Formats: sequence, structure tokens, C-alpha cells
Amino acid sequence: MTVRLRPWRDDDADAVAAACGDPAIVRYLPFLPQPYTRDDALEFFRRKPEDLAVTDAETDRVLGAVGSTPRGDGIAEVGYWVAPWARRQGVASAALERFSARLFEQGLRRLYLMTALTNGASQRVAVAGGYLREGVARGAARDGDGTWQDMVVWARTAGDPPGPSARALPDLPGGELTDGVVALRPLTEEDGPSTYEMRSRPDVSGRSVVGTPMDPAVVTRQCAESVSKWLAGQRAEMTIRDAADGTYLGEIALFYFEPLLREAMIGYSLTPEARGKGCASRAARLVTAWGFEIGMARMTAGTAPDNVASQRVLEAAGYHREGLQRSRLPGPDGTRIDNVQFAKLRLAAT
Ligand SMILES: CC(C)(COP(=O)(O)OP(=O)(O)OC[C@H]1O[C@@H](n2cnc3c(N)ncnc32)[C@H](O)[C@@H]1OP(=O)(O)O)[C@@H](O)C(=O)NCCC(=O)NCCS
Repeated sequence: MTVRLRPWRDDDADAVAAACGDPAIVRYLPFLPQPYTRDDALEFFRRKPEDLAVTDAETDRVLGAVGSTPRGDGIAEVGYWVAPWARRQGVASAALERFSARLFEQGLRRLYLMTALTNGASQRVAVAGGYLREGVARGAARDGDGTWQDMVVWARTAGDPPGPSARALPDLPGGELTDGVVALRPLTEEDGPSTYEMRSRPDVSGRSVVGTPMDPAVVTRQCAESVSKWLAGQRAEMTIRDAADGTYLGEIALFYFEPLLREAMIGYSLTPEARGKGCASRAARLVTAWGFEIGMARMTAGTAPDNVASQRVLEAAGYHREGLQRSRLPGPDGTRIDNVQFAKLRLAAT
């Protein structure tokens, strides 16, 4: 769809009111009045005449909005929303690109925007619009219930190259990795309950370096924020599912701790029902091959010395034991335990 940016007209007010009642807009633009009425739209047109309507270039139907707030010294904060009837067709990405170019032409030198850590769609729009992730601003915006939320800051400066910003961890090809038996898909907010149930098992949390918060809401939030870590190039977290019927089997992640060395680490856990059938080895093979495809030179993994099942998984996925790292892992009650280090090399893999 080709989008057009134009000033608001009073006869757009009904469309704006209809769009702004949408749950995603209520969730991620909590500063808008709710319920949002036609009069709220008309008041917005008067208060921010420089904000623009995003419309279908052919029909002039309202699809969304883009706007900016000057922050002085050639800097502006930008924002956008797309109506539920126009989503996932590239509208926000095209509108942001166009709007940013226009603001740079007007002499601005730095544009930034802030997204919630859980707002995957908006973070993807920022990447598509050539904005770079600069970091997380703590307690930077109020949530709908008034609590202060951490926000991801994205910015584009006048000299930045055109096109989407580069990503260290691309999307999975076709949205998943599969060998026909297991399928690996990006972790999402909807995976919260299954993830909590599995991670809170003592035999899983006891093997985890990061530990498991014993609060299902926190685990669900971690799942929802997974997209942010992926786009930041920090880690790619996936659920492991039965390829035939989608049953949840566990999770696997690629942690990109060593970008300079082109080295990533994998970690995985399965539900008790899924164990003993080769699913972890299949998942490890798939993630390892993907790691090499996206440019890793070395894939690594570590296990506690007594975790024989995990060592078998790594061997089945083509990893070699490299040695014992003394006291590398946190153990129970403040103790430390040794780590058996495994690695697989890209050159050896081809
Ligand atoms: C965020 C929002 C503006 C995206 O609008 P959109 O027109 O659907 O976005 P696009 O079609 O340009 O999609 C951009 C990317 O996000 C992806 N995407 C969009 N919605 C998604 C969703 N719900 N889940 C996962 N990915 C999504 C698209 O597939 C696309 O990916 P690609 O870059 O790989 O092609 C829209 O969802 C919205 O209005 N949300 C509520 C308000 C809001 O969050 N505003 C921004 C506040 S910071």
C-alpha cells in the first residue's frame, strides 16, 4: 500500500476516535484520553497542527498518524500509531521513513523515539525506519496504571545511512527453524505460562545461571521482552515445539555475548515429558546451524560436570569437549561449581 502524509481535516475525527479505542493503542499510548472521542480528535488537530495523518494514497482513507515534539537544538521526539484496520502492511515503517526524511529536510539533526520493551511491533518499525537502539531509559514513561516504565530509546541522526538499521541477530528464515520433528519459534508473551511452569521446576531452575523468578507475571514479562533482546542483538530466545501439533516441549536460546569474537553460546531446557526422545539434540543442531549461517565462527555451551544428559545433547549436535573451567558456575547456597566447556567450529561444520 502506498501511504501519503497530509494535514488532519475535521472529517478525519471519527476515524481517529475509532482507531484510538484499539487495545494496542490503549496499552502503548497510555497518555491518550480513554474512551477517546470525536471531540478528543478535534482538540488534537487544533493542539498539534504540525502532526500528520497517514492515509492510503489511492483512497485517502485514514490509516494512522505520525507526529513530532521539538526538544530544542535540532532534536525532536517522534511518535506514530496505525489503525487496527491497516496493520502489518508496512504502513508505520513507510510513514516513519517518509516523516523522518521530511524532518531532516527541515533542518533537524537528531530524531528519537521511545518504545516499551514489550512493544515488538513498534521496535520493528524503528529498525525498519533506520533508527538505532541506543539503550534503555529507566522509569522514562508512565504506564496505563500510572507506574513508571523502562523504555527503549531509538534514534536516527541526519547523517545516518538510508534504509533499515543493521541487526546482529536477524529473524529466523520463514519465522522458524525446523527439521520436520521439532520446530523452534521466537519466544512471545503468549508463552509465559508454559515457560513459567517449565522454568520453575527445580531440575530446570537448579541448572540455570540466571535463575527463575518465582512469579508467573515476571516470567511472562520476560517472555514479552524477548523481542527487545533479539532486536538488540543480545539473545535469540525460542520455544521448542512438536513440529506436527505445536505442543510446547521446552526452550532454547542463542546468547550473543562475544560479538567481537563472532562467538555465541546456546542453552536449553525441556519439560520432563519431552525428555529422552532426542528433541534437545535436534533443537541444538538447528540453532547451531543457524548460528553459523548468520556468521558465527564458534558456537559454545557449558554444563555442570554431573549433567551427563546435557553433555550427550551437545555431543549429538557435533560439539567437542574443550575443558573444565573451575568454579565458573554459581552453585546452590552461594557455592561455585565447575563448568564443562563445549564448542563447535564453523570451519569444522562445513
Ligand atoms: C506499532 C504499530 C505502529 C505498527 O504499525 P504497522 O503499520 O502494523 O507496522 P508495519 O506494518 O510497518 O510493521 C513493521 C514490522 O513490525 C512487524 N509487526 C507488526 N505488528 C506486529 C505484531 N503485532 N507482532 C509482531 N510483529 C509485528 C511487521 O511484520 C513488520 O516486520 P518487518 O519489518 O520484518 O517487515 C501499530 O502496531 C500500532 O499502532 N500499535 C499501537 C500504538 C503504538 O505502539 N505506537 C508506537 C508507540 S512507541
